Formats: sequence, structure tokens, C-alpha cells
Amino acid sequence: MAKISKTEALGRIGFLKRELERHNHNYYVLNSPTISDFEFDLLMGELQGLERMYPEFATEDSPTRHVGSDLASGPGEGFVQVPHRYPMLSLGNTYSKDELLAFDQRIGKTVTVPWSYSCELKFDGTAICLTYRDGRLLRALTRGDGTKGDDVTRNVVNIPTIPRQLHGDGIPSEFEIRGEIYMPWKAFERLNEARAEEGHEPFANPRNAASGSLKLQDPAEMRSRGLDCVLYHLLGEDLPFRTHIEALEAARSWGLPISGYSRRADSIEEAIAYIDGWDSRRESLPFATDGIVIKVNELDLQRQLGFTAKSPRWATAWKFRPEQALTELLSIDYQVGRTGAVTPVANLEPVLLSGTVVKRASLHNKDQMDLLDIHIGDSVYVEKGGEIIPKITGVELTKRPAGALRPDFPTRCPDCGTPLVRDADEARHYCPNSAACPIQAKGRFIHFAGRKAMDILAGEATIETLYDKGFIRTLPDLYGLTREQLISLEGWQEKSADNFLKSLEDSRKVPFERVLYALGIRHVGEQTAKTLARSFGSVDALAAAGKEELLQVEDIGETVADAIIAWFASDNGRDTVSRLREAGLQFEVDSGSQTRLSDALEGKTLVVSGNFSIAREALKALIEAHGGRNSGSVSGKTDYLVAGEKAGPEKLRKAEKLGVRVISEAELNDIIEKR
Ligand code: IVH
Repeated sequence: MAKISKTEALGRIGFLKRELERHNHNYYVLNSPTISDFEFDLLMGELQGLERMYPEFATEDSPTRHVGSDLASGPGEGFVQVPHRYPMLSLGNTYSKDELLAFDQRIGKTVTVPWSYSCELKFDGTAICLTYRDGRLLRALTRGDGTKGDDVTRNVVNIPTIPRQLHGDGIPSEFEIRGEIYMPWKAFERLNEARAEEGHEPFANPRNAASGSLKLQDPAEMRSRGLDCVLYHLLGEDLPFRTHIEALEAARSWGLPISGYSRRADSIEEAIAYIDGWDSRRESLPFATDGIVIKVNELDLQRQLGFTAKSPRWATAWKFRPEQALTELLSIDYQVGRTGAVTPVANLEPVLLSGTVVKRASLHNKDQMDLLDIHIGDSVYVEKGGEIIPKITGVELTKRPAGALRPDFPTRCPDCGTPLVRDADEARHYCPNSAACPIQAKGRFIHFAGRKAMDILAGEATIETLYDKGFIRTLPDLYGLTREQLISLEGWQEKSADNFLKSLEDSRKVPFERVLYALGIRHVGEQTAKTLARSFGSVDALAAAGKEELLQVEDIGETVADAIIAWFASDNGRDTVSRLREAGLQFEVDSGSQTRLSDALEGKTLVVSGNFSIAREALKALIEAHGGRNSGSVSGKTDYLVAGEKAGPEKLRKAEKLGVRVISEAELNDIIEKR
């Protein structure tokens, strides 16, 4: 590292610290990083170098000395923070083989006997620490800030590969096991497709998706996300194992999920061969990996080597560089989505990247285009990183052709010509002509007819034809379509018309939550629609709800609340509901239709009062899902009063008087979980 003056170093250290803290926050808390891991590691490396050069500036609070924090902050996030018994550290990392050799040599300075390594995939997810006592899962904590983590036990039990009960021999009476919660590619793709359909920003990569999902408040939603887990570090007092690999093999025999991809290496050269073996093969794994972890295998030697403030001296991570390709930007398309958002998509000279040919890449929005200062004809770097859709990460300015022009972001909708608007708090441009912009209208029909919505037998082509013929303009028009109109369409016979009409007929029975989702209200995706349907029970109650009332509902923030209010206040919204109601669609919850999780509370009447770790509405839904009935007031018929923080004193008194059992949220969970 080039020598720089003390004053310069001080300024640069301050800058790097602030930058690193900001990126840590984006990554761990917001789950939305704005730079790649590689760029982050470069900044971190620079700060480490400067602190080594001027140790007087290396303060305790430096990001080089503590791990980024994922602690959920802010009201309503509802996780209890619990101290870690052993600090949860990070790993040193490197992109250079020379540094790996230096790591090996450093160990040789402390250790005088032969040692081996455990070589493991570095799973790209979010760290978890599980405690088992007497063979039962006691607690699950996130890494948090390394000294205390968020208690996410109630969420972790929804991950099928994490056993609640262990079986086998030699299970220590209490131990911790650490690992990674991750989202396999398939689940990640499914989730992002659903999010795109619902007008939500997709997750940047499976890591962000995993850590975002782990902190969801709704257990059912959490289960549907398809998270998985792998464990790689056993800790406890007086454990009887000689090596790390032995310990993990024992853990595997008790039923815990342990990676099958790890190998023992007897030298650093063998470890490097393992790394090289995965460099290209990792592309074919069903989950994301961002590197390889090399650990000293002998536990007594691990103890001898010990830790620095931030990471063990007995382990390090080799990080894969994201693969890049350089290619020419031919043109940019501006695509209008169902919600009117305009996305710039780059057309590229086809290029091979990590085994697939890339022809198109996302440019996200106008800000991103400006930031890259992109010109048509530029040579651009494309990266896949953790993402499915490749993105343009940079421009090779030395190759810019003379006279290259900056693209003009359209000022009008490419489909209907309406001037675009830009949301104040979002970087996206929208076509505001949602009612009549053909591409948006067709998108709304496609969404409405979709399998998760009304499940009507109409693909994109049918919708296009019906729209272009002028047979449909607004959603309720679908229910006015006649057999004659359908048969008049090219290629349609009586049979296809009848099938279509039958699916329309069947859609009248589709439950309210799916009808609500089908309406295509911005930000109201499948899950939000479910929550709203459960909380309000009918479209009339929802339409009448004020902002305060909406904000009371779990997972409903300002943006969603505003979108709902605006939709129901619009002429189009009101007209749609009233005509669809006339057509016979369901606009109320059918109380018998809730998903059943168990019969644990069958025949029981419960009253909930106070604040809980999850929203009250979610708790009530949970009670119903387990067969219980919610009631608003305590009476002789009440079986349990579930009392949270600040439970109503009047209810407590009445329960006492009537001899109604008062239970805590934890006790309720016990009752539910026993089934
Ligand atoms: S060992 C003190 N092994 O990578 C031991 N970590 O960048 C620390 N990770 O915090 C962890 N796969 O969240 C270890 N096979 C593996 C891993 C792994 C992924 C994560 C872990 C760690 C981070 C460091």
C-alpha cells in the first residue's frame, strides 16, 4: 500500500469508516446492498491497510473490528434480543492464493504438529445460531451485532430441515450449532417472480431474500418461502470431539443438516485444489455460494490459535470474484409493466457469461443510467453475481466510440404517449394513465385471470385479442362476454368458448382473498391480500378503513396503505368493485375457508389482549388456523385469555373473577406446537 501522509490518512479513514458502516446497514438491515461484495472487501482492505500504517487511528468502533449488525431496529419489528453465549464472529477473507499460503504459514508459526484442514463451501445466506438442550431446539438467534442477536426461534421452526427434536447417541445435554439459513435458487426465482407480479422490487440475491424472509412476522408466509439450512460449527462446554469434521459427523447422525460437499485436506495445496475444483462447478449448485471456507480441523489447535477481535485465526474464506463479461450496448428498450413502471432494458451484443449467453441486461432505472453515464455503443461490463437477470455494472470508458450518444430516457409512455411521472420516494418512472394505457390494461387482465388470482382460462394471446377487438376495457367486462363474441374470434370453436365461459363461472367461487389480489391494487400482492382479507373480512370494511386502521395491520406500511386508499377512492376502483359484485364474485371472507394448521385449539374460545411479538391480527389468525375462535370480550365461555404486554386490566380482572385461564404468548405457542 502506497504511503500517504498522516492528515490524508485520517481523512480517508473517516471516509472509509462512514462508507463501510453505510454499506453494512444496506446489506444487513435493509437487505439491499448497493455495491458488490468485492467492492465492499476492497474498501475494507484499504481501511485495514491504513489502520496498520497508522495504528493510532485504529479505534475500537472501527468496522474492521466488529461485524456488520443485522439487528432489526425500529418499532413493530418485534424480535427480542438475546446475548450470544460465545460471540458470533466473521471470517477473514481473501481473493489471492498468495494470501492463502501466508495464512498457512502463519499457522505454522504457532502450531508445531501436523494439522489438516476442513474445506467447505461458503453458503451465501444469513448466519444462524441454534441452541439445543436435552435434544430439543431451545432457541435460534441471528448473528445480530455479534454479541447479541434477534430471537427468531418462532420463524426458524418453519424451516423443515431444522429438527426440533434430535435423535441418536451421545447428544450433549446442551450445545450450540451455527450455520447458514439460505434460499435455494429455485425458491429464489419463484419468490422474485411473485414479487415482480405484485409490483414489489425483487430481492437482489438469495442472501438478501433469505435474511429478509427470516424476519417475516407471518409464519405461513415464511414457510412458503422455501428456506433451507446448513450447519457448520458446533460449540459447547467439554464436547468429546477431537476434530471439527468428527463433531459435524456426530451432528449429522443426530439429524442436523450438515453439508455433504465438505472435504478434508492434508495441506494448503490440497485445499487450493478443492477451491479450484469448485471455481466453475459452483455454477451448477442448486444454491448460491460466494466462496470456500478453510478451517483448521483439529479442535485443540483451533483453541491454541484463538481469535482476533473479529474472526478466528484458524479459519479463512476464499471468495470467488463475480464473473464479468465485456460487451457492446446496442440499444435500450423501455418496458412498461402492469403497474405502469417503466424499466430500461439493455440490448447487448450476445456474450457468454458463466455458461449462458446474455443478450439483455437490466439497467434498473434512470438514476442507474445516469450513475453509469451510459452511452449507446459503449462497451459495458455485465455481471450475474447473485442475480438471475444480469446487470450492467460499469462502462469501459477507454472504448467509448467517438460521437456516442447518451440515451434519452423517454418523457412519454412508449405505449400510450402519456407524459411519465416520477414517484417522489422511488427511483422509477411511471405511466399515470393506468386506466387506458393498453399495455397496463392488458397486464391487469393477465394478472386478474392468473392461476393465483381468478384462474380464468385466458392466456396472454386471448387477452390481447379480446382487448384489441374492443370486447374488454375494464375487468368486469370479462363477465359480460358472450358465446357469440368468443366464437367470432379467429381459431375459436364452440368447445373453447364453452371452456372459457365455464372457467368464468367457476371464478365466481374464488375466495375473497384471491379476488382482492386479482384486483391488482398496487403493492397488494398475494400475501398482503390474504392479510387484508383476514383483518377486514369484507371489501366494504376494507374500503371504509382509514389510514390509521390500515397501519394497524401487520406488514402494512405507509406506501401500501396509501395505495389502498387511493384505489378505493378512485372512480375506477369503486366501479370495478360494484360491477364485479353484480357479476357474483366473492367480496367477503367465507369463515370456513381459512387454512387449517392443526386442531390444537378446536372448540376453544380465546380472547387476546395487549401487545405481542407479532401483530395482534396475526396472532388471531394463528389461533383460527389452529381451530380456535376469537372473541372480543371475556365471558364464562372463554377458555383462555392470551395476555401480552400491557394487557387490558379490565379483561384480566374479569378473567380472574370468572376463573378463565390467563396464558402468555409463549404458553399459547406451546399448546399449538404440541400438536
Ligand atoms: S465458519 C468462527 N463456515 O460466512 C467461524 N462460515 O463471511 C465462522 N459462512 O459469518 C463461520 N458458509 O455466516 C463458516 N462453511 C462455512 C460457512 C460460513 C458460510 C458464512 C458465515 C460467516 C460468513 C463470513
